[in-house]
Amino acid sequence: MSVLIKGGTVVTADLTYRADVLCADGKIQDIGSDLDAPKGAQIVDAGGQYVMPGGIDPHTHMQLPFMGTVASEDFETGTAAGLAGGTTMIIDFVIPNPQQNIMEAYQQWREWAEKSVADYTFHVAITWWDDTVSQDMETLVRDHGINSFKHFMAYKGAIMADDEILVNSFSKAIELGAIVTVHAENGELVYRLQQKIFDMGITGPEGHPLSRPPEVEGEAANRAIRIAEVLGVPIYLVHTSCRQALESITRARNEGQRVYGEVLAGHLLIDDSVYRDPDFNVASAHVMSPPFRPKENQELLWRGLQSGNLQTTATDHCCFCADQKAAGLDDFRLIPNGTAGIENRMEVLWHHGVRSGRLTMNEYVAVTSTNAAKIFNVYPRKGSVSVGADADIVVWDPAATKTISARTHHQNVDYNIFEGMEVTGGASTTISQGKIVWSDGKLNVERGAGNYIMRPAFASYYDAMQKRAEQSRPQAVDRGSSRPQAVAHGKGG
Ligand code: URP
Ligand code: ZN
Ligand code: ZN
Repeated sequence: MSVLIKGGTVVTADLTYRADVLCADGKIQDIGSDLDAPKGAQIVDAGGQYVMPGGIDPHTHMQLPFMGTVASEDFETGTAAGLAGGTTMIIDFVIPNPQQNIMEAYQQWREWAEKSVADYTFHVAITWWDDTVSQDMETLVRDHGINSFKHFMAYKGAIMADDEILVNSFSKAIELGAIVTVHAENGELVYRLQQKIFDMGITGPEGHPLSRPPEVEGEAANRAIRIAEVLGVPIYLVHTSCRQALESITRARNEGQRVYGEVLAGHLLIDDSVYRDPDFNVASAHVMSPPFRPKENQELLWRGLQSGNLQTTATDHCCFCADQKAAGLDDFRLIPNGTAGIENRMEVLWHHGVRSGRLTMNEYVAVTSTNAAKIFNVYPRKGSVSVGADADIVVWDPAATKTISARTHHQNVDYNIFEGMEVTGGASTTISQGKIVWSDGKLNVERGAGNYIMRPAFASYYDAMQKRAEQSRPQAVDRGSSRPQAVAHGKGG
C-alpha cells in the first residue's frame, strides 16, 4: 500500500519547499514535483498545508508504576493520543527499582510496549549500582540499541541516584559511547523541605512547589553538568524548568561542553498559580516535578529554545486520574507526580511558538522532532522528510482551530493541563510507518503496530572524547637531575 501526499509544502529543520511525497513499504520512496500516484495509492490532499517530520516526544512514561500507583495511560492509548496530535515516536523510560536486575526491567518494559500503535524506544534509568549494572549497560548498548541512560537526582528513598551512582554510571556511559540524561533536582533538599513545609501545616498541593524551589533544580543541574564535564560524557537535562538550570546549561555550552536541554510544553505555558487553585482536583492535577514555575521563567525558557541552548521539547507524559491524585488529599507528598500532554505538544508549540513569531517553522520542526532524532542518534531515519527515511509524517493544517479539552482528547486521563486553550494549527493527517493513522479527526490504528527502534551508540562522541581525554591526560612532571637527592639522615654522612 502506498500513500501520495500531494500539493503540500515540505518543511524540515532546514528547508521549506513545494513537493509531493510518496510513501510505500513504510519508507519515503520519492519527493518531487507532480509525482504520479502508483496504482491503488491513497492520495492525501495537502494543498495549503505543511508536510513535516512526525513529532518525536523524547520524554514519556506510559503505564509507569510510580508512587504507589500506575500511570493511567498505557502504551496503546498513549501512542494513539500522540498520533492524533502529530507525534509519531516516543522515547519512554525503563525504570528499574533499586536492586532490580536491569535486564529484567528492560524486558518488562519491552513487553508492556508491545501494544504500542506507533514507534517507540527507551532510555534506561540507572537507579542503583554494582558490577551487574555495569555489565547490563554494556549489553543494552551492544545488543539492544539503547544509547541513553537516565538518572533521577530526586525521589529520595525510591529511585534517586546519588553522586556515587552518577559517577559510576557516567563513567560507564562514556566507555560505551552512550549519552547520560538527568532529572535535576537535589533529592536530599526536596526531602528536607517537604518535611519542613508539611510540619508548618501546609499539607495541600500548594506545598509541592514550595518544597521544590528553582534553586534545588539549579544546584542539581550544575552538579550533574560538572560531573559530566570532569568525566567527558555528553549530558542531556530533561524537563528544564527554570532560570537557574537554564543558566547552568548555557554557561557550560558557552564553555564548549556537550550539554543538551529539554523543555516541556507545560513549563513553557503554565505557571505556579495553578497550585493555589481552591479546588484540590485542579491543583493536584498539576502536581509534577519539577513543578510549574513563577511566570517569569516562561519567557526565559522560550529564549532558551530560540537561542538554541535548549534543543528539544517534550511532555513528560505521565498520567494520573483524580482518584489516583486523591492519595495525597491530606499530604501533598503523596500526590502521584505527573501530568499529560502528548496529544497537545505539537499544537500548543505551533500556536505559541510559530504563530507568535518566536520560532520559524524550520526551528519548530527542529525542536519538536529533528533535534531529538539527532541527539538520540536515530536521524535521518526519524526526524526528517527525506528519501529512505521512515514514513512518519504529519500533514499540518495551519488554519485548523480547536479548543483543547479533556472532554474531547484521546489521552486516557480525566484532566488536561491546557484545558480551554484555543489553538490554531493542527495535524490534519498523521502518517505512521507509511500508513494513514489519523485523518478527518479519526484514528485508524492497530494495536501492536508500533516498532521498537534501536539506537546505536555514538562512536564519534566516544572517539572524540577519548582523543580529548588523551590530550588532557595529567602528566607526572619529569624533574630529572634537579630532583632533590634523598638524604640519609642519621647515618653519619
Ligand atoms: O512529575 C513527574 N515528572 N513525573 C514523572 C517522573 C519524572 O520525574 O519524570
Ligand atoms: Zn523527571
Ligand atoms: Zn519524566
